[in-house]
Amino acid sequence: MRFLLAAALLLAKAVTGLTSAEWRSQSIYFLLTDRFGREDNSTTAACDVSQRIYCGGSWQGIINHLDYIQGMGFTAIWITPVTGQLTQDTGYGEAYHGYWQQKIYELNSNYGTAQDLLALSKALHDRGMYLMVDVVANHMGYDGAGNTVDYSVFDAFDSSSYFHSYCLISNYNDQTDVEDCWLGDTTVSLPDLNTELSSVQTIWYNWITEFVSNYSIDGLRIDTVKHVQESFWPGYNKAAGVYCVGEVFDGDPAYTCPYQNYLDGVLNYPIYYPLLNAFESFSGSISSLYNMINSVASDCAEPTLLGNFIENHDNPRFASYTDDYSQAKNVLAFLHFADGIPIVYAGQEQHYSGGSDPYNREATWLSGYSTTAELYQFIKRTNEIRSLAIASDSSYITSKNNPFYTDSHTIAMKKGSTGSQVVTVLSNYGSSGSSYTLNLSGNGYSSGTKLMEMYTCTTITVDSSGNIAVPMASGLPRVLMLASSAASSGPCASSSSTTTTTTTTTTGCTQATALPILFKETVTTSYGEHIYISGSISELGNWNTENAVALSADQYASSDPLWYVAVAIPVGTSFEYKFFEKADGSTTVTWESDPNRSYTVPTGCVGTTATVTATWR
Ligand SMILES: *[C@@H]1O[C@H](CO)[C@@H](O)[C@H](O)[C@H]1NC(C)=O
Ligand SMILES: *[C@@H]1O[C@H](CO)[C@@H](O)[C@H](O)[C@H]1NC(C)=O
Ligand SMILES: *[C@@H]1O[C@H](CO)[C@@H](O)[C@H](O)[C@H]1NC(C)=O
Ligand SMILES: *[C@@H]1O[C@H](CO)[C@@H](O)[C@H](O)[C@H]1NC(C)=O
Repeated sequence: MRFLLAAALLLAKAVTGLTSAEWRSQSIYFLLTDRFGREDNSTTAACDVSQRIYCGGSWQGIINHLDYIQGMGFTAIWITPVTGQLTQDTGYGEAYHGYWQQKIYELNSNYGTAQDLLALSKALHDRGMYLMVDVVANHMGYDGAGNTVDYSVFDAFDSSSYFHSYCLISNYNDQTDVEDCWLGDTTVSLPDLNTELSSVQTIWYNWITEFVSNYSIDGLRIDTVKHVQESFWPGYNKAAGVYCVGEVFDGDPAYTCPYQNYLDGVLNYPIYYPLLNAFESFSGSISSLYNMINSVASDCAEPTLLGNFIENHDNPRFASYTDDYSQAKNVLAFLHFADGIPIVYAGQEQHYSGGSDPYNREATWLSGYSTTAELYQFIKRTNEIRSLAIASDSSYITSKNNPFYTDSHTIAMKKGSTGSQVVTVLSNYGSSGSSYTLNLSGNGYSSGTKLMEMYTCTTITVDSSGNIAVPMASGLPRVLMLASSAASSGPCASSSSTTTTTTTTTTGCTQATALPILFKETVTTSYGEHIYISGSISELGNWNTENAVALSADQYASSDPLWYVAVAIPVGTSFEYKFFEKADGSTTVTWESDPNRSYTVPTGCVGTTATVTATWR
């Protein structure tokens, strides 16, 4: 009986992990396990990137520094590959990055044990965060030339029969060459698996199913996707059972986007290049970025499932192109407010400036994990704004970003339901840019609408011609959303009530017809469980659990297990309600105990929020 229960629990675990739809609202922090955190918490341990050797980061080291990551508002981490690697110090150094695997059923002992990896996944889940792991299906790694490979060192794939015959890729314009010949060179070769063979497919598909389940992995980043034939990927993605985002290292949307027909998502290389070009200098081309947003929207099957980035371990740091902080903030704002899932690379928040590999792989610990760093604080603010946008508009995250204004230095885009769209204004004037007012038409808001600029908490009313007077300064990004949404929670919530108070004392306040009610429920949940509110009014789904409102766990911590949501309800409405819990993929709901809770929406000025605080019963 006990055994059966354990087996059932294991099974339940295997079907958790996050779907594509659930990944859309996440915010990802990408780190090289060897370079992020050490178990001894050292902030001085030397790490000479030019040596290309292990610097001592580990999974336990990541666990020790999760507060630092969560403190910026990230809800997930992506870690580099975990499998057993070649152990030599090669002509290109050691396999500290994890892309030279030899033993796929073993873990890289430099990073810790299986218990440590499980502890990392549990530590994340306990915080309401998620784990994405990098995997490689295209190749193994070998210290030496392709014609000297001893295949018996590999587990699995311990014979040359599993591999394409040796040839180095020579023509990147020839897709057959790209797929069938080998990456690497005669110093370190990357033996190229013959993924057309059903024997190779069977091993990989079974492996990925077990791997995701064994370590409670929530999503995968897949390496070197364009070096494997497209037909391999649907089976792999399905066997994984979680969101997969593939690396297709190519900036042409006509080449990269079609891979989304075979995998849930791809890294947004098409946007990467024009985004970099637009903001690496004060005269970068904004129009190329504007055009690429539209190309990606038409070429990619689902732009909201792309992975957005401006830095990673393969491309030079953004700050190696320009040290201007405003430019860095504009690209960060773009990653978070355009279509796609934002990915920030460890060290970006410290304005690291390393160039090409290996110089872009600096140890994060050498920054001392400063949480007062300018970009750390900016990212925190940006994630808060994005969370609020997601919580305020159920269509925000699936709606398509629409660039609607551009001039030679500026781009403005809107995303979200009409009437509550988030408007993002970016410019490449840099930190010495002047202060001016941008008269923004075509924003979709009707005159008189009250908006909030979310980085400065400035209230702006749409003028009688429907224009927004956006206060620009120092080349900084601006993000506008409905003032009523901004009032419900997030970084400008208190400024909203301050504004209201001022209005009241000077001119008497405008009575709101509906108020945002912020429901806060303290309830400890397990990984995969979600909290909803249901009640007797249409805003709460008329007691139909199918139409209940989901609460957000993005402020959840084991020490403060808070779930919350803001719902606008007409003043004077009296209703009954209750919270319930439901697990991923389950139809069973668990209600709070009786009696029903009840509430009457008070009257109040426009801009106020009423808060209901509750604890699960
Ligand atoms: C490292 O930091 C973690 C988290 O703050 C702490 O629990 C642990 O005791 C520290 N370890 C050492 C060796 O200082
Ligand atoms: C998963 O765990 C099972 C049971 O311990 C083990 O037999 C299998 O090799 C593991 N698979 C992977 C990919 O780690
Ligand atoms: C903003 O532009 C519109 C035309 O789009 C114009 O009618 C209006 O006067 C301008 N407002 C300001 C303050 O310049
Ligand atoms: C709570 O409300 C539901 C729907 O109106 C009703 O069926 C149920 O009896 C109520 N529970 C209590 C304890 O009043």
